[in-house]
Amino acid sequence: MIDITPITPSLGADVSGFNIADFSNEDFDALYKVWIDREVVRLRNQPIDDSVLQAFSKHFGALEEMPLGLMPESERLKIKNRYVTVLSNIKVDGKYIGGLKNAEATWHSDMTYVENPPPASILMGVEIPKVGGDTYFASQSKAHDAVPPALLERVQGLSIKHNAAHTSIGSLRPGYEAFDDPREAPGAVHPIVQTHPENGKQVLYLGRREYAYVPGLSLADSEALLDELWEYAALPENILKQEWQVGDVIIWDNRSVLHRRDGFDDAERRLMKRCQVLSPVS
Ligand code: SIN
Repeated sequence: MIDITPITPSLGADVSGFNIADFSNEDFDALYKVWIDREVVRLRNQPIDDSVLQAFSKHFGALEEMPLGLMPESERLKIKNRYVTVLSNIKVDGKYIGGLKNAEATWHSDMTYVENPPPASILMGVEIPKVGGDTYFASQSKAHDAVPPALLERVQGLSIKHNAAHTSIGSLRPGYEAFDDPREAPGAVHPIVQTHPENGKQVLYLGRREYAYVPGLSLADSEALLDELWEYAALPENILKQEWQVGDVIIWDNRSVLHRRDGFDDAERRLMKRCQVLSPVS
């Protein structure tokens, strides 16, 4: 049987008595319910094994493949754990083995620049620096509830265009041209306030502040409105700080939390494994 302890009053739950390598359907259903309710779930002391992480993550839905460039399908299919992506500053033979390196990442939700962003992200700590590299989560249902009613009224019916061109550490993705004006940013448009499809809560859906744009407004009005909304996005009482331990697995609801992470000294090693869920279980 699993045991549930809230991490902060606003969000997050530590779930003990759950082994990602071996669990019953009943325990998974209980874990899933806690995740939907608390938005972030932490499992400690889990086996650090890509196959296990991938098999566990598939219970949340179909997974995104790691970036494999133009590799032919016949070769791709031979890669056993191709749904596990590496985030790391570690280099092997002079080449980074994963993304984001040692950089800070500002508040964002993952891949909101696509039409159907991931509902869940699952991140495992494999090697952790002594200092830095902490990850923070901010509840967007609590953020919504903190927004004054007059401001909620003003954003009714408005959307945000979510910039696809830059990564969460601000670098330009391959294939995109640099630009300054957020109106030129390519990306999907999503309503600012959304109803969570599984728990019915109202959430703010801001994506990322950089290069965001509210279609239909002048640039100045869009910038002012976004700045106003972002004042409520990450209030201290709605933030969970994750100080990683080896074997931690965090599952966050990408529909209802923002996350960010601290940078860290490049002389230290940080190795994280991530599975991104592309569509929820049906
Ligand atoms: C991310 O922004 O998705 C990465 C989080 C982390 O490396 O802690």
